[in-house]
Amino acid sequence: MIKIENLHKSFDNTPVLKDVNMKIEKNEIVALQGPSGAGKTTLLKSIGLLDTIDKGSILFDTQDIASFNTTQQCFFRNQEIGFVFQFHNLLPEFSALENICMPALVSGEIFKKTQQKALVLMDALNIKNKKHAKPDELSGGEQQRVAIARSLINSPQLILADEPSGNLDSKQSTDMFNLFHEISKKHQTTFLIITHNNDLAQMCNRIINIQDGQIV
Ligand SMILES: Nc1ncnc2c1ncn2[C@@H]1O[C@H](COP(=O)(O)OP(=O)(O)O)[C@@H](O)[C@H]1O
Ligand SMILES: [Mg+2]
Repeated sequence: MIKIENLHKSFDNTPVLKDVNMKIEKNEIVALQGPSGAGKTTLLKSIGLLDTIDKGSILFDTQDIASFNTTQQCFFRNQEIGFVFQFHNLLPEFSALENICMPALVSGEIFKKTQQKALVLMDALNIKNKKHAKPDELSGGEQQRVAIARSLINSPQLILADEPSGNLDSKQSTDMFNLFHEISKKHQTTFLIITHNNDLAQMCNRIINIQDGQIV
C-alpha cells in the first residue's frame, strides 16, 4: 500500500533521512523503533505530508503523494491519514467530543452524524463520560485517547502515531493496541506507530528499525 523510495530529508544542510526505502502492506500494523534523534518523527511527518521532502517518492497505492500540489495534499491528509502525536495538539477551547469531530467537520460532514460516530469511538476508548470536558480538564491519558479517537473519525486508510502510549499506563496501552488491531481488522486500516515500548512493539505485525536516518 505504501512504498517509500529514495527518501532524503535535511534540516539546515544536515541530512536527517538518508535514502529511506520501505514498504508497508495494507492492513499491517508496523512499529517504528530507533534511538532518539534517528529520524522517526521526521519520517512520520514526511509520510503524513506535514513536512516537505528533498528527494524521493511516497507511493500510496500507485500515486506519488509527495508530488501532489498543496491543495491535493491537504485533501489527502484530511481524508486518508489520521495522526496521533506525542503532544496531542487538542484545541483548548473545544470539548473532547468537538475535538474528536473536528477532522470530519473540516471535510464537511454534518455534526449529528459525526457525533454518533465519535461517541462510539469514545465508548470504545472509555472516555464517553468526558465528552463535554475541555482538554485542560482531562488527564494526560484521557487527552491521548481523545487524540486517538480524533485520528479515527474520518476512517482514514493510514494512521500515523508518534508515541501514542506516552501518557498511558500499561493496561491503557494494551487496550489501545487491541483497539488498533480491531480497527485494522474491521476497516483494513494500516498503522505506523513509533514506540519505545518493546512489549507494545511486539504486539505489532512487524518492527522497522531506523538508525541515523537509515532503515536497518
Ligand atoms: N524542524 C527541525 N529543524 C532542525 N532540525 C530538526 C528539526 N526536526 C528534527 N530535527 C533534527 O533531525 C534529527 C531527527 O529528529 P527526529 O525525527 O525528531 O528524531 P526521533 O523522532 O527519532 O527522535 C535530530 O537531529 C533533530 O534535531
Ligand atoms: Mg520523535
